[in-house]
Amino acid sequence: MLEIFQKAKENKYAIGAFNASNLEQLKAIIQAVKKLQSPVIISTSQGESKFIGKKQIRALIDSYKEETNLPIFLHLDHGKSFEVVQEAIEAGYDSVHFDGSELDFEENVEITKKIVDLAKEKGIKNVEGELGYLRGKSAVQEAVEIKEEDLTDPKKALEFVEKTGVDSLAMAIGNIHGVFKSAQNPNLFLDRLGEISKMVGDKAGLVLHGGSGTPEEDIKKAIELGIVKVNVNTELRLAYTEALKKSLQDNPDQTTPYKIMPIVVEAVQKVVEEKIKLFMSKVRP
Ligand code: 13P
Repeated sequence: MLEIFQKAKENKYAIGAFNASNLEQLKAIIQAVKKLQSPVIISTSQGESKFIGKKQIRALIDSYKEETNLPIFLHLDHGKSFEVVQEAIEAGYDSVHFDGSELDFEENVEITKKIVDLAKEKGIKNVEGELGYLRGKSAVQEAVEIKEEDLTDPKKALEFVEKTGVDSLAMAIGNIHGVFKSAQNPNLFLDRLGEISKMVGDKAGLVLHGGSGTPEEDIKKAIELGIVKVNVNTELRLAYTEALKKSLQDNPDQTTPYKIMPIVVEAVQKVVEEKIKLFMSKVRP
């Protein structure tokens, strides 16, 4: 995992981390990376991993890895407690994110460090920590205002990375989870990202959460400034649900799942392909 972040940083591209919680979403992501020959991270949040099953998604990804021969990594997204992260490690996840951003700094450091120690013992290559206040949720929502005090402080970021030993860092730099109902998602605070990148870019992979709805130019600039992983969930959820509604409306008598779902898979795959092209992450020798 670390190697792919290093390669991404050197070549100024980012790896897409796409959330999935069922076979159709997984199929869509895999078909996209197969077509574009790109490495990929499949993320499951606490809720998503509970729904699909941690061991079950591990087994599915193993079978897709064998079939495609591509670097496909399984990642726990926003684990909120030591126990949840431990469960993912035990189920064979390649990579884990502990989100202690709601805790005070010292407590966040303490639990993150405990997870880094456990992960090292178990041979996990990437532990992602989080610092800063990331607003929103992976859904369509009313606009929220991003305040200066929400943003990750570059000096604190350096202290956090040094004290915990995380391999990668999720930050608040104007990004939000989800998309706004009737406004463009906010621009990123690229100057802040530049400062963080200067301080910790050589010590940890920089992660951009909230990849849905973020202005594309900002994503490109963020990758230039050192972002190596971009997380995307809401846009995939929207493509999925809109296509599913359409499929059911257009074929009200259809009851065969494998006839209802192909346009859903296709719709999600299209979004994943667009993102991979934006992140420029095809496999490099
Ligand atoms: P979006 O839902 O905004 O794409 O964010 C996803 C994310 O950051 C998952 O951690």
